[in-house]
Amino acid sequence: MGTGQGQKTVGRIVGGDSVSLEIEGLNEATLELDELLVSENSPSDYTVLKINGMRYGTSVSNEIPVKAVDADHKADTPVRERDAMFYMARPVLRYNDGRLGIPKVIPAIWSQVRRAEKHDFEFLTNASPDTIFIGKIRSGSRVLDIDIRLNGRDLLTHHVMIPATTGRGKSNLVKVMLWSILNSGRFGILLLDSHDEYYGRTGHGLREHPYAGERLAYYSTDSVPGSYSLVINLESIEPDHFEGILSFTEAQKQAISLYHRTFREKWIEAMVKGKEIRESVSDITIRVIQRKLRRVLGIYEEGGKIRCENSVFSADSGTTTLRDIVRFLESGKTVILDTSRLGDDGELLIGSIVAGRIFSLYRNYKGSGELDTKAPVSIVIEEAPRILSEEKIAEEGNIYSTIAREGRKFNVGLIAITQLTSVIPRTILSNINTKIILGNEMAIEREAIINSAVQDLSDQDRSIASLDKGEAIVSSIFTRFAVPVYTPEFQQIVESSEKPMKHQEGLIM
Ligand SMILES: Nc1ncnc2c1ncn2[C@@H]1O[C@H](COP(=O)(O)OP(=O)(O)O)[C@@H](O)[C@H]1O
Ligand SMILES: [Mg+2]
Repeated sequence: MGTGQGQKTVGRIVGGDSVSLEIEGLNEATLELDELLVSENSPSDYTVLKINGMRYGTSVSNEIPVKAVDADHKADTPVRERDAMFYMARPVLRYNDGRLGIPKVIPAIWSQVRRAEKHDFEFLTNASPDTIFIGKIRSGSRVLDIDIRLNGRDLLTHHVMIPATTGRGKSNLVKVMLWSILNSGRFGILLLDSHDEYYGRTGHGLREHPYAGERLAYYSTDSVPGSYSLVINLESIEPDHFEGILSFTEAQKQAISLYHRTFREKWIEAMVKGKEIRESVSDITIRVIQRKLRRVLGIYEEGGKIRCENSVFSADSGTTTLRDIVRFLESGKTVILDTSRLGDDGELLIGSIVAGRIFSLYRNYKGSGELDTKAPVSIVIEEAPRILSEEKIAEEGNIYSTIAREGRKFNVGLIAITQLTSVIPRTILSNINTKIILGNEMAIEREAIINSAVQDLSDQDRSIASLDKGEAIVSSIFTRFAVPVYTPEFQQIVESSEKPMKHQEGLIM
């Protein structure tokens, strides 16, 4: 085996149990939270340990095992004591004769441990085009050059949550994942971008991807070369799309339902114009609905004509937008909707419209046996509690909670980005099978994250609190343990991918 820092003994196991081993630090090594250690019987039989805590203590000399000091030794017995660091570490992986698994035995007491190195994880490498890059294995704050990639279909259809406080790198992580998805071209992604930060209108963004021309569709109200204009025809909007976004009273719901039944897809127009219907509906009810529609859609009536304050919703254009977006998604493209000029409700409504259409189409594809010919689709939502909180889901639920619960069967998933996990109902959280946890200084949020994770993360509270920008813990039914990862800055990914192209250009010149 090779030499180098990694092979140096940094500690020895002095006690503990199957969940938490106690390791005494040796050779002045300073070990960190989330650092990965290896206790090795032989190069083909070793256990990986992850540090979850540490404390000061006193140790007897290096040579004498601690158990040699029994409780009743006399004060004058010459025992050499020294200050030492003790670490709590969980056995997370065992590699034995080519097989990889959750450790069923713990390393022998007094075993020496060393730092984990790249070669310890080489068996995990998987570079199929169906995988999605999350980041590199992290050992404490040290990054090992091993990619963490997860099978895209599993990952996306079983939903992903990315919880973290602001500024910890959520958007960066999503950009990096989407870059990898654009490489693969096998997954449809719908991204509602309320900050217009993903495409890269100015600065770095997904538009720089070598396949952006074929695989990326950018919709905006403020067009740039190559973009599509974001206009949704009013006829695409169904009453259900408002669920979880706008709340209506029973009387209002009834009125909407009557208008929808009478005027079909022209119901909004009829409502805004206050057209008469056979059944009696109070004028006040109609006026309240009109006001709500104006606030959310910017739609109103003037001189018998439908007008729109923003250019997003329209009575006469945008008739193919929805169909086009759906077609892009089905064929494995990434669709970014720049909703930065819309209000919250308008953005969520567009999301509902597209998500609703995709979900019902995919459900039909499943029925007709065509589902396997369509790319799995995932919908990225920022500030997920806007539509997934207890309050927003209420009794009847909305399209997002439906997707969280049933989407897997139809290859439709969610990537829910959130600062708050505690407000999302447990039934939703338990359906989200991968959590990419970034830093979080709020204890209540950490608790909610830990309680909803797939693996037992009860000993990870300190780790999560101390994660730096880009550092994460991936807890997933598709990873064997809660893997510490580091997601590089997007810029670096762009630059490293561009190198071969620049080189070619250089040759031509
Ligand atoms: N892996 C990383 N390494 C270094 N800086 C990062 C990393 N991820 C994000 N940043 C920087 O941190 C800032 C916030 O990142 P961002 O992804 O916007 O966070 P969030 O979406 O969680 O608010 C940005 O300036 C970004 O460039
Ligand atoms: Mg962000």
